[in-house]
Amino acid sequence: MGSKNEALCADGRLKSVAIIMDGNGRWAKKRLLPRTAGHEKGAAIIENVLKVFRELGVHYLTLYAFSTENWKRPKEEVDAIMNLAYKYVDKVYMDRLRSESELAIRFIGDKSALPEKLREKCIEIENMQKDAPFVCNIALNYGGRAEIVHAANELVKKGLPITEENLSHAMYTYGTPDPDLIIRTGGNFRVSNFLIWQGAYSEYVILDTLWPDFGREDIEKCVKEFYSRKRRFGGIDEEDSKK
Ligand code: FPP
Repeated sequence: MGSKNEALCADGRLKSVAIIMDGNGRWAKKRLLPRTAGHEKGAAIIENVLKVFRELGVHYLTLYAFSTENWKRPKEEVDAIMNLAYKYVDKVYMDRLRSESELAIRFIGDKSALPEKLREKCIEIENMQKDAPFVCNIALNYGGRAEIVHAANELVKKGLPITEENLSHAMYTYGTPDPDLIIRTGGNFRVSNFLIWQGAYSEYVILDTLWPDFGREDIEKCVKEFYSRKRRFGGIDEEDSKK
């Protein structure tokens, strides 16, 4: 299926994908492990997920790692996710120092509440990689409603009118096209405050697979499902308009 999908994604219809990485806790529970073990495995698979999407011709991947609501979780779990995020960002940073990687990592969300060490690392990595053919946005302390409020405040500060275009420019995701496809693992049909502005016309695919088990086969299934859909963006099909 690999080469067929490469051709499919190369048509430019599937440039931007976003993922709600859900199911780490259940993955761990099934194995009688602490929830943090699920997050560890969930962090470990990210590299492969990036690789497969890149091979398929996708250029932007946005991952929901920590929401503005996730602070309600036990401190031990919050600390574990922050540590995993730090380890991941540091690894990307070191890789970047070693080679001119073609991957750019950006962060979306309010960095000000992140642990200082992580916040500084995020800023460092964002500053050292401007343009790249593949962009991965990591949502950390991200909430869609908070993002819209933040964007509106930015416009007010600058004295700009509140228009769709100006708001889109002031979003954390500016520079990344709105997601063509939003995938949610873990089987729940919920948006969970993720990209509520940008996802207005995204195609959604919900998979029962728990995030730590998400691999090439699931990715190919999601891509196939995306290509089976007709996107109308509120209009009607061209052939129907001639009737
Ligand atoms: C949701 O599953 C998952 C999270 C809130 C954390 C996601 C974090 C990672 C994948 C790893 C850290 C991130 C980076 C960038 C390395 P859940 O815990 O709600 O699962 P459940 O619904 O089964 O309880």
